[in-house]
Amino acid sequence: MEKLVINGGRKLFGKIDISGAKNAAVAILPAAVMASQGVSIIDNIPDIEDVQCIERIIESLNCKLIRGNNTVTIDSTTINNVFANTDDVRRMRASYYLIGALLGRFKEAHVDLPGGCAIGVRPIDQHIKGFEALGATVNIEHGVVTAKAERLVGANIFFDVVSVGATINVMLAATLAEGTTTLENVAKEPHVVDVANFMNSMGANIKGAGTDVIRITGVKELKGCNYSVIPDQIEAGTYMIATAACGGEVVVGNIIPKHMESISAKLIEMGVEVIENEDSLLIRSDRNLKGANIKTLPYPGFPTDVQQPMTTLLSVSRGRSIVNESVWESRFKFVDELKKMGASVKVEGRTAIIDGVSKLTGAVLKATDLRAGAAMIIAGLMAEGTTEVTCIDHVDRGYPHIEEKFKMLGADIRRIKTEDC
Ligand code: EPZ
Repeated sequence: MEKLVINGGRKLFGKIDISGAKNAAVAILPAAVMASQGVSIIDNIPDIEDVQCIERIIESLNCKLIRGNNTVTIDSTTINNVFANTDDVRRMRASYYLIGALLGRFKEAHVDLPGGCAIGVRPIDQHIKGFEALGATVNIEHGVVTAKAERLVGANIFFDVVSVGATINVMLAATLAEGTTTLENVAKEPHVVDVANFMNSMGANIKGAGTDVIRITGVKELKGCNYSVIPDQIEAGTYMIATAACGGEVVVGNIIPKHMESISAKLIEMGVEVIENEDSLLIRSDRNLKGANIKTLPYPGFPTDVQQPMTTLLSVSRGRSIVNESVWESRFKFVDELKKMGASVKVEGRTAIIDGVSKLTGAVLKATDLRAGAAMIIAGLMAEGTTEVTCIDHVDRGYPHIEEKFKMLGADIRRIKTEDC
């Protein structure tokens, strides 16, 4: 195991480049196995454990996969296995995209139920609703999702809840269904649009991704293509918030500023300077920030995946702030760790009531999930004294080279081996 040791209180200065989007990459890689001809070369792949995990799963299907420097080449023409049942499948959430991919191409899929961050119940009923609407029979027995169809036929599907996973998964299957599918009450996140653009590069016919209605006209087959993953909106938001928390001036580069609008707007409301350039944002903060209220919502609302870093920032911002976590029912567990540092936060169900304090003091913290780990690193960077964040394997799932990037900005942070977790 490893932990990060941070000597806090230093301002951040400099420029960092954001990596490819985790939640786009872990959907695009499974989608690539739908190609029955040609090879896909996918660029701007982030160097993170979740990507390595999904790559291992794809290889377990006897698919040829070659890793390069932030690039993956996939030749799925020889796949002969519709069973995804390795430990990796049960470890991560995005393995469920193999259901839509294999069902779409082979009309059959046997995929173990997914794992993922412990932030709530995380059902897949909407995925199943979509697959069944397309004509599949779906059963869950012994922890395995089995989906089969004689034929997949286009349908009109109105999701009961806005779900990134269900929107993407059903979109995948529908690309090779006969006829037209309309999806409504869909997720509009940048990574949903990125997956649709990738599928269209493979020869799919998807219109309206990023809007309230996605229309998919089924095609006969999909072919490998060249593609580059969009920058990670959540990684970028994390570094923006870290700069606001520590004070200083940082250029967050290689991003799409439009994707950051809800985060930029909230930081500006709190007194942070945010200057937009074509593919970067300059963040300037004197740490003297005003509290604010946050309600996490599907895109373009405030992203739930930066709620924990933002709650950490609000814990040292002036006055009372209220954070309402509308997406996940259990995403405040990390608050108990923040309290060890002197934060004043009261959690009532899906709401956190935060009274800003003048400073946090270093402590030994345990990362409970991916984004909580990032929040604790931010807390350590801005706290007085030394902080240790253990169980950082959670963080390595979604943040490439996080301590290296913070070191480039002047942070005193180092990774060391430990027995603790
Ligand atoms: C994706 O999870 C992301 N993960 C999550 O990011 C992110 O928090 C979430 O979208 C929301 O943006 C990946 O993309 C791999 P959902 P997903 O389906 O698809 C309910 C991170 O930190 N729901 O949009 O699992 C669900 O309970 C991770 O990178 C159903 O009720 O999320 C939740 O309340 C954490 N039935 C809401 O919808 C379903 O069938 C949104 O979930 C599916 C979802």
